[in-house]
Amino acid sequence: MQYSVSTDILTTHQTDCLAIAVFENAELSASARIIDKNINNIVSNLFEVGDITGNPGQTLMIHNVHGISTKRILLVGCGIKNRTTENDFNAAVIAMARIISKSGAITATSCLAEIVVNERTNSWNIRQSVINTETEFYRYSLTKGIANLQENKIEQLTFIADSQDRNTIELEISIGQSIGNGMNLARELGNLPSNICTPSYLANQATKMGECFDKIETSILEEADMQKLGMNSLLSVSCGSRQPAKLIIVNYKAAGDERPVILVGKGITFDAGGISLKPSQGMDKMRYDMCGAASVFGTIMAIANLRLPINLIGIIPSSENMPDGNANKPGDVITSMSGKTIEILNTDAEGRLIMCDALTYSERFNPTVIIDIATLTGAIIVALGSYATGLLANNQKLADDLMQAGTDSHDRVWQLPLWDDYQQQLDSNFADLANIGGREAGSITAACFLSHFTKKFEWAHLDIAGTAWHNDKFKGATGRPVPLLVQFLLNRISS
Ligand code: BES
Ligand code: MN
Ligand code: ZN
Repeated sequence: MQYSVSTDILTTHQTDCLAIAVFENAELSASARIIDKNINNIVSNLFEVGDITGNPGQTLMIHNVHGISTKRILLVGCGIKNRTTENDFNAAVIAMARIISKSGAITATSCLAEIVVNERTNSWNIRQSVINTETEFYRYSLTKGIANLQENKIEQLTFIADSQDRNTIELEISIGQSIGNGMNLARELGNLPSNICTPSYLANQATKMGECFDKIETSILEEADMQKLGMNSLLSVSCGSRQPAKLIIVNYKAAGDERPVILVGKGITFDAGGISLKPSQGMDKMRYDMCGAASVFGTIMAIANLRLPINLIGIIPSSENMPDGNANKPGDVITSMSGKTIEILNTDAEGRLIMCDALTYSERFNPTVIIDIATLTGAIIVALGSYATGLLANNQKLADDLMQAGTDSHDRVWQLPLWDDYQQQLDSNFADLANIGGREAGSITAACFLSHFTKKFEWAHLDIAGTAWHNDKFKGATGRPVPLLVQFLLNRISS
């Protein structure tokens, strides 16, 4: 998809489809008013006859109108004028992209970004327009044949702007495209079935990224390498699987000797629960248990495309969690790379077992901050639903920066307490730590577990079990929290 900026006068602008914003109570956006005047008040009349209401995401395509050079006009509802929310705006852009892709238009022009969206700037509207268009046009296809691939003829989307805004808009377009592409990569990896997307597949994906970008170097630790390092916690999980575990290191280096930011992403390519087997209902969804890893790939690709001057390392422990004669058994005690012993009371709490060794391994890169991203607990879905990512941190400044990035990108997070009161739930009679903390506060005790392996650094944990994928009709990976992480890194550069 190509994006461009035009300073044309609306009424003589050439495009296959011109999208303009309309509001509830028959209110028009500035562009809609200009168009309406030139086409004999057709837009106002459509409100009068009730064919459009202006509700967020409602659309109406008008064909063959005289008095204007565009072939089609698409009216897009954006809610109540001057009260359009971020969600309203995103719904409007998604609806616009969907309708245009189903029409015969090859080019389109959007005037939606001119409207007032809460306290957002015009730049935010442009970036969000690009992200939402880019992600709306993603289709999972690898294992689906070609039957559904007839749409998406659209090749170019143009934004109308004053000439003095051109540079800012072009910058927002490139950021939006990088984030959108990063999200789509994360979604593709998440959606791939686990018989294709294995730990080895993820390792190959990393190697390919290393070949595509000259600032990225990739290395893969095999099980024998991990054995030498004493990563017995990670290896104990992969013991139950026929697929070999991998520890994937993706190193983006564009800031000399600066200390890096490290992203550690949970890469369980299928979580059957192990001997503590999960119920079969909905178990297919456990192929998404590598969405933390996928978001690390997506974020690093976005950063590399934008050529940001930072050092960023992705560390991805990857394994399956399967039941097998060699699998972890409840009551087993293992020794992690840090030397701490762990009593495995539930083999389904495997994420923390692979993450803890990856976090210990991260120490050797002397990071300024570590952020881990994991589909760690079902409990976070109970607490926050699918709107906010759970955030826990051992440093409040880092937590605040992540919350700010969440607000800026509208890829939101909500903080939970990491008080030491909760730590006692992990006490074990047979090891330094138990791997589960009982029924209460499951997401917090999971983070408490990880906190034992990050004491030397500023660290934040993102629990994305609720936000990384959609259920129901739109079942599939969401690409979150790529927008959050890219925004966090952009904010670090500008501050
Ligand atoms: N991958 C799951 C977390 C999960 C559960 C994500 C449901 C999305 C939906 C994780 O490995 C897990 O199984 N966690 C257990 C922890 C429990 C055994 C303490 C859970 O949440 O049930
Ligand atoms: Mn599990
Ligand atoms: Zn899991």
